[in-house]
Amino acid sequence: MKIALFSAQPYDREYFTSANEAFGHQLLYLDSKLIPDTVTLAEGSGAVCAFVNDQLDRHTLQSLSEMGVRLIALRCAGFNNVDLQAAEALGLPVVRVPAYSPYAVAEHTVALMLSLNRKLHRAYNRVREGNFSLAGLEGFDMHGKTVGVIGAGRIGSIVIRILKGFGCQILAHDVHVKEAESIPARFVELDELFRYSDIITLHCPLTPDTHHLINTDSLSKMRDGVMLINTSRGAIVETGSVIKALKSGKLSSLGLDVYEQEADLFFHDLSNTIIHDDVFERLLTFPNVLFTGHQGFFTREALNNIARTTLQNITSFEQGKPMINRLTASMVLP
Ligand code: NAI
Repeated sequence: MKIALFSAQPYDREYFTSANEAFGHQLLYLDSKLIPDTVTLAEGSGAVCAFVNDQLDRHTLQSLSEMGVRLIALRCAGFNNVDLQAAEALGLPVVRVPAYSPYAVAEHTVALMLSLNRKLHRAYNRVREGNFSLAGLEGFDMHGKTVGVIGAGRIGSIVIRILKGFGCQILAHDVHVKEAESIPARFVELDELFRYSDIITLHCPLTPDTHHLINTDSLSKMRDGVMLINTSRGAIVETGSVIKALKSGKLSSLGLDVYEQEADLFFHDLSNTIIHDDVFERLLTFPNVLFTGHQGFFTREALNNIARTTLQNITSFEQGKPMINRLTASMVLP
């Protein structure tokens, strides 16, 4: 099948081309992001392969359907950028890669925590400049600290197990999971998690319920000097409130792999341009903010799994086999 692969990066080309040797699809790599203006690039393709910041709203889906696209194959787990109800109404199946490496994201989460705690991002620069002063680099023992994990699914539960190895106490909150033998955490209500956690890390999906879950009100319930990590989706955090919380000292540090307005920034080399997002630029001025550009998933193992599962999803569709990774409109949480 001819597949229009939007937002294609060099690593997508490498891993998809290699995995496709076993599938034999026709891959059309497109640098452009999928937005209403670029939708015509999919003309003549049977499937569209999209990533996290491609826009699959009602209007775009309608245009794709009208030009003969028969399948949307997401090469990611999150699907908050897809109007699943519109897709269903159009009879356009949507498949995804539900789990490509939860370890990759979980390990990146802990990397952000440890780097912020021990200020590795600052130490790296200091040592390179011959500045061996330790002033301002003081951290804390992870051992014995309380970490609040919001969302104890695939990624959250691995974060919990890694942190247990450090000797942390874990408070978890999940709307569906209330306890599990394999998850060494105490499941509590959100307010209790906010109140007692030294570090809070977000691993729930972006839904109407979790949109701006971290806001002025929830921040006010947290301990002074709490560390916040978000490797889930940017819009779970209301950025204006965290900037205020960084200024007041309520937040001692902030680690972000995702950002609410990331679609215009991430996955591109903008180093020769002026970034017009003043909120993003303000965040970068804090010495206790560590930003990575949505790279949590970015390991060899994950890229291999993404390419293979996406191409298998497309082959299953083409051969009329059951699509085990199909999303349905009912998967949109209320
Ligand atoms: P998952 O579906 O296995 O787990 C999510 C958990 O969140 C579930 O247990 C669910 O019950 C819980 N949940 C849902 N609504 C909630 C709420 N309102 N409050 C508390 N818990 C809630 O998903 P997985 O694989 O662990 O991924 C989590 C998120 O990580 C994804 O939704 C995605 O946004 C993000 N992600 C980020 C990546 C990155 O590169 N930074 C890569 C892959 C995923």
